[in-house]
Amino acid sequence: MRGVMEHIQKRILFSREEIDGRVRELAHEISRDYRDKDVILVCVLKGAFIFLADLARYLTIPHTVDFVRLASYGAGTESSGVITITKGLDHPVEGMHVIIVEDILDTGTTAAYLVELLQKMNPRSVKLCCLIDKKARRKMHCEPAYTGFVVGDGFLVGYGLDFNEQFRCLPDIYVIEERMP
Ligand code: PRP
Repeated sequence: MRGVMEHIQKRILFSREEIDGRVRELAHEISRDYRDKDVILVCVLKGAFIFLADLARYLTIPHTVDFVRLASYGAGTESSGVITITKGLDHPVEGMHVIIVEDILDTGTTAAYLVELLQKMNPRSVKLCCLIDKKARRKMHCEPAYTGFVVGDGFLVGYGLDFNEQFRCLPDIYVIEERMP
C-alpha cells in the first residue's frame, strides 16, 4: 500500500486557508438561520468528520452532534444504490432541526437516502450541508441548503476525504492526477 501511495500525483484544489474561510462562512449562515432553534448536526462518517469538527466549533448557536455511517455495496467507486446503515443515531431527532453534514455530494444516493430516513423520525426539519458538491454527477434529487464548493469531476482527497483510507488527515484538499507508478 505504501508503495502505491507514494506514486500518486496530486495537486491542491482548495488550500487549508480557502477551506477555513468557507467553513467559517457556512457556520455564520447556519448560526444566523438557526438562532433559537434546537439543532442537531448529523455527521456522515467517515469522510465528514473533519468538516464536522471545524463547522461545529465555528457555530455560535447551541447544538448537539451525532454520527451515522452508511455503506453502499457494489463494484467500483460509485454507489450501487443499495444502502445499509452500519452505525445509526445515538439520540432521537424528534422535534429537532436536523442538519446533515456531508463531505461530498456525488450521485446524491447517500444523502437522499438519509434525508428520507431522518424525515420519518419526526424532526422539525431536515437540511443538508455539504462541503463539496459534484453537482453535475447527481442522479438522485438532492439539494443542499449549504454548500462549500461546487466542483466538476475528479477524485479528491484530504480534509476527511480518502483514497483507500489514505490521505484523510491532509489539511488541504487535493485532486488526484495520476494513480499509476
Ligand atoms: C462518500 C461521501 C458520501 C458519499 C457520496 O462516502 O462521504 O457519503 O460517498 O456519494 P453519493 O452522493 O454518490 O452517494 P464514502 O462511501 O466514500 O465513505 P467515507 O465517507 O467513509 O469515505
